[in-house]
Amino acid sequence: MKKVLNLMLILLMAAGTLFAGGQQETAAADVADVNEVEVLHWWTSGGEAAALNVLKEDLETKGISWTDSPVAGGGGDQAMTVLRSRATAGNPPVAVQMLGFDILDWADLGFLADLNDVAAAENWDAVVPEALKYFSKYDGQWIAAPVNVHSTNWIWANKEILDGLGIAMPQTWDEFIMAMEKIQASGKIALAHGGQAWQDATMFDSCVIAAGGPEFYKKTMVDLDEAALKSDTMVDAFKKMSQLRSFVDDNFSGRDWNLASAMVIEGQAAFQMMGDWAKGEFKAAGLEPGTDFYFSRTPGTDGTVTFNSDQFVMFDVAPEYQNAQKELAKAIMAPSFQVAFNLVKGSVPARTDISDAEFDAAGKKGMADLAMASKNGTLFGSMAHGHSAPAGVKQAMYDVITSHFNGVYSDEEAAMELAAAVASAK
Ligand code: GAL
Repeated sequence: MKKVLNLMLILLMAAGTLFAGGQQETAAADVADVNEVEVLHWWTSGGEAAALNVLKEDLETKGISWTDSPVAGGGGDQAMTVLRSRATAGNPPVAVQMLGFDILDWADLGFLADLNDVAAAENWDAVVPEALKYFSKYDGQWIAAPVNVHSTNWIWANKEILDGLGIAMPQTWDEFIMAMEKIQASGKIALAHGGQAWQDATMFDSCVIAAGGPEFYKKTMVDLDEAALKSDTMVDAFKKMSQLRSFVDDNFSGRDWNLASAMVIEGQAAFQMMGDWAKGEFKAAGLEPGTDFYFSRTPGTDGTVTFNSDQFVMFDVAPEYQNAQKELAKAIMAPSFQVAFNLVKGSVPARTDISDAEFDAAGKKGMADLAMASKNGTLFGSMAHGHSAPAGVKQAMYDVITSHFNGVYSDEEAAMELAAAVASAK
């Protein structure tokens, strides 16, 4: 995928196409600033849209107006498809929400504006954690402003269902399975899930850790070690996926993640395995973690954190847009904004100098876990969310994981297929 993208873009650039950021580049260097940003993003669910509003309103107080370009589709795959077609047509947006290795790919192609001036003035080097800087900087230059840190290995649960059946939040994988058996026997849906590749992969991230621990996650999802990818431990990770498959309802295929969250919120289903953007849906419904619904790390992954960070990149566009781009980058990184935004989004700040005082119980745990995992060497980029390997490898893994979840491969076959797919994609 990446190779195709590179080739397409290089050919286009060689043909002399001028990339002018949504508008034709003007010859004059001193044209007036356009205090407007067009932002391409995929935050369209209730919780996501509420968080995005915090950003829009913040910018408006600075005299920058917002032109919204939403592309629905959790995880952002559809948004990235739209971005590729706009960029190849010479019409990229002024700013784009982006994840992990995609940021480095676009930087590598020379499309991104450098944000060094803002970063230096605002001292980003001192406050952005190293794990995020890996994706915010390219060749020593700042090319992205991180708005948050999400982590992906969480479960969210309906309190009434669990309390009603006398089930405590499970601590181990086996307890998780036993809890879901009991819930299924009661006639409720045990696991709310949306059958989309990125959601299958989000559960898979946790199954890999539950099967082999943090070292195994690193060896397979980050180092892409072939022997580990086809090992018995990976077969066990797929076995865990097969177990999960037996707890989803018949209509799971294609369901959006926020509809799966709604099933838990409304009491049709007991659990959802999802990143902490799901908490944003519960909060948008007026519910508080701990008191109105339960949460914990995915059983079997305690002590390890798989993260992703939403970052905003600025495309290298006509000079009259640069002031607005800088204001956007500056606004995103402001400490008070990072608190206000992340309280709504479900994520935690992308800065190390922010107190957890205003955060709810899940936010406090999220921040503490992140710091602990970072210290212990058990913090890893999420494969499902483009933070452990480049897009081509991620897509290759998606294909195998989703095929297996839909019964195309046995657990053993899936491990062999995974190793083969990764070998040919990397
Ligand atoms: C993630 C993104 C989150 C959340 C989620 C579902 O990739 O980082 O911010 O929006 O997708 O759309």
